[in-house]
Amino acid sequence: MPHVDSRWRERTTRRYIRRGSMKHKTEILPTDTPERFEAAVTRAAELLRAGEVVALPTETVYGLAANACDRDAVRRIFEIKGRPAGNPVIVHVASLEMARDCVSAWPAVADRLAAAFWPGPLTLVLPRAAHIPDAVAAGGSTVGVRWPNHPLIQAVIQACGFPLAAPSANLSTGLSPTRAEHVRRSLGNRVPLIIDGGPAQVGIESTVVDLSESSLRVLRPGMIHAESLVAAAGGARLRTHSVTGPRRSPGLLRRHYSPKARLVVLSWTDEADLKSQISNLKSELRRCHVVAHTRIPLGLAAAQVSVMPHDPTAFARALYAELHRCDEGGAEWIVVEAVPDSPAWEGIRDRLQRAAHWCCVRAEVPPRWCE
Ligand code: TXA
Ligand code: MG
Repeated sequence: MPHVDSRWRERTTRRYIRRGSMKHKTEILPTDTPERFEAAVTRAAELLRAGEVVALPTETVYGLAANACDRDAVRRIFEIKGRPAGNPVIVHVASLEMARDCVSAWPAVADRLAAAFWPGPLTLVLPRAAHIPDAVAAGGSTVGVRWPNHPLIQAVIQACGFPLAAPSANLSTGLSPTRAEHVRRSLGNRVPLIIDGGPAQVGIESTVVDLSESSLRVLRPGMIHAESLVAAAGGARLRTHSVTGPRRSPGLLRRHYSPKARLVVLSWTDEADLKSQISNLKSELRRCHVVAHTRIPLGLAAAQVSVMPHDPTAFARALYAELHRCDEGGAEWIVVEAVPDSPAWEGIRDRLQRAAHWCCVRAEVPPRWCE
């Protein structure tokens, strides 16, 4: 790890803040030994206390963090990401006490869900406490809180002593980063520090559940699926999201979480069938990247083919890294094999639909799953 003089750090930190500049020489700190982990936590906390924005690992995806109680710091997150001001950000905490401090009401169902899934990939939307700035909640009356299950961000929150507002560390509407390198490619030079905490273990963003009304509503599906929420919630009623109703969660915009290449979700019977479907895309085969997990095409000589795991947990962990890789490889189209229609795949189906240019799972060709 390069040695960086602390006076130099303080001076540059002040300069970043004075200029309010988007141009940074981005520092990337590893965490692969106890000493490096400690140094990374110290450096991140130092910048966050100074009102800066830093990219940190979480178990779902990397986050772009700032002091959740500092309005100006939170605004810089929006600036850096190019995020519309109407899209609220999640507040990350490192204890139940901190979570309760961010909200003005903590119903019994929040206790049950927190006991079952925290720390972990679940965000609870609750009425907002007065000291959480408007910018965090996009002017709304609620706040999303999450206790992430990654030692690095937990240690940073504890060192800071304040909660961290953090959306995914990517440009707005793009693909979330699951590795430090993905953050560097999209936000390098816009943030002073990226901490490398290794590949994200969950791989897709948290389940967002609204508890601000009497029943429970999933605003964004994730790896903790609706059935397990209901089981843990002790009989609370689940309302299904209405696509025609008022926009409750801006992350539910139709097109989101998208790679640069155009993505389609297809199912196919055999290689000839896949080839004929790809020819409808009016693309050269060699510019197509096929991401398959049950019917692996072996004879599509020109196309790139990658094989994903069948298991939903492993599939989610690998998905974004694979899509990033397709983009880096210059894919024009990414053809993803459709995934099962079961609850365990709920979050993955949601992300594929949002990333997709179009989804054309032909009804007469149901995908065949390995049991
Ligand atoms: O796993 C995750 O949730 C990651 C990591 C970094 O924690 N964060 C993340 O943040 O995905 P972001 O900003 O990319 O997505 C947060 C989603 C958005 O769809 C946002 O609209 C929704 O949560 N959200 C946040 N606060 C909300 C609130 N008060 N009411 C409704 N939706 C909210
Ligand atoms: Mg995001």
